[in-house]
Amino acid sequence: MPSRHGLHSAFALLATVLAAACSQGTAPSATSPKTMLAATPPMGWNSWNKFGCKIDENLIHETADAMVKSGMKAVGYQYINIDDCWMAKTRDARGNLQADPTRFEHGIKALADYVHSKGLKLGIYSSAGTATCEKYPASLDHEIADANAFAAWGVDYLKYDNCNNQKRPFFARYDAMAKALRATGRPIVYSICEWGENNPGEWGRRVGGQLWRTTGDISDRWSSMISILDKQVGLEKYAGPGGWNDPDMLEVGNGRMTYDEYVAHFSLWALLNAPLIAGNDLRTMSDSTRSILTNKDVIAVNQDWGGMQGARIRKDTDTQVWAKPMRDGSKAVVLLNRGERPATITVTATELGMRASGSYAVRDLWTKVSTTTPDRITAQVPKHGAAMFIVRAK
Ligand code: GAL
Repeated sequence: MPSRHGLHSAFALLATVLAAACSQGTAPSATSPKTMLAATPPMGWNSWNKFGCKIDENLIHETADAMVKSGMKAVGYQYINIDDCWMAKTRDARGNLQADPTRFEHGIKALADYVHSKGLKLGIYSSAGTATCEKYPASLDHEIADANAFAAWGVDYLKYDNCNNQKRPFFARYDAMAKALRATGRPIVYSICEWGENNPGEWGRRVGGQLWRTTGDISDRWSSMISILDKQVGLEKYAGPGGWNDPDMLEVGNGRMTYDEYVAHFSLWALLNAPLIAGNDLRTMSDSTRSILTNKDVIAVNQDWGGMQGARIRKDTDTQVWAKPMRDGSKAVVLLNRGERPATITVTATELGMRASGSYAVRDLWTKVSTTTPDRITAQVPKHGAAMFIVRAK
């Protein structure tokens, strides 16, 4: 028999799924967690963090190949997302968007076919403005034509940016593209990227988005990752099946953070139910980068929905405790050391809000060591690092 917590979580899940279905204008009976877009946080890769505008169809082919070969596909990564700079500098004679004829010689449809042949999905990018941030043609007032083109090409995911928006009201701009995407009849994940400027948790789901950026851009620095983390406090109430807070894409493996810093970044993003969109070069990544990105136990926390995104539950000078209720009644915990020297961090099962039991099983999701404790969970955490556990009442 499921525990009380388990039952509670199951009801919470059902309620959230139904609410999400209703808010997207779909009859609840027509939507199940299986058919819902982004029932769990999307997982994939995006070209921007590592490659910027230096992208072409070879990179996309090779990245799709690498996603399969590296084992990333096997642990749940699915989307290959092309960011800014894929377009030709001008629309075609009929006013349609077209791919850069040199760098994407065979067009986006051929690329989508290739990515689909690998069992993966293709994402693309535009802006709710007159031009993208890199000054390529964008979709404001071209929503229907552009959404139709994306659907005809077989695109599965659209990241929709905010540059050159002419200061026109945000809701109408994001709503116009949402409607155009829906009208195509193709399920296309809608990733709203207005940098958290208009409190998108309040309207992202209502407008039809499956994820919404909560901040400006991440960079491959500990200080950037940490400042984005701080802005996630309190946003947990907005996340749930079909609609996720997006603290921006991963920097794991891009080279300017240490191994421990990337472990912390990945652990925290997983606990936040953030979309796990890798941003490194999958073709050449080291074994240690691959081992972070493919840690199945950490990914399982990210993909689990127990009724709440992880949240900060304690904040000391240099250390913090973040926790997330899991569907099965256990808790995922991240002990974060933001300081400049190693720290011992302790949390109790009581502080985690676990039922009194006297004995808890604790599994370290990075070292894979399992222990039992009467109450206290303690770890030696390196500077700029994190430990991550699942704690379960016995
Ligand atoms: C920014 C966006 C980045 C990236 C970039 C491309 O506005 O936040 O993630 O897409 O534009 O120009």
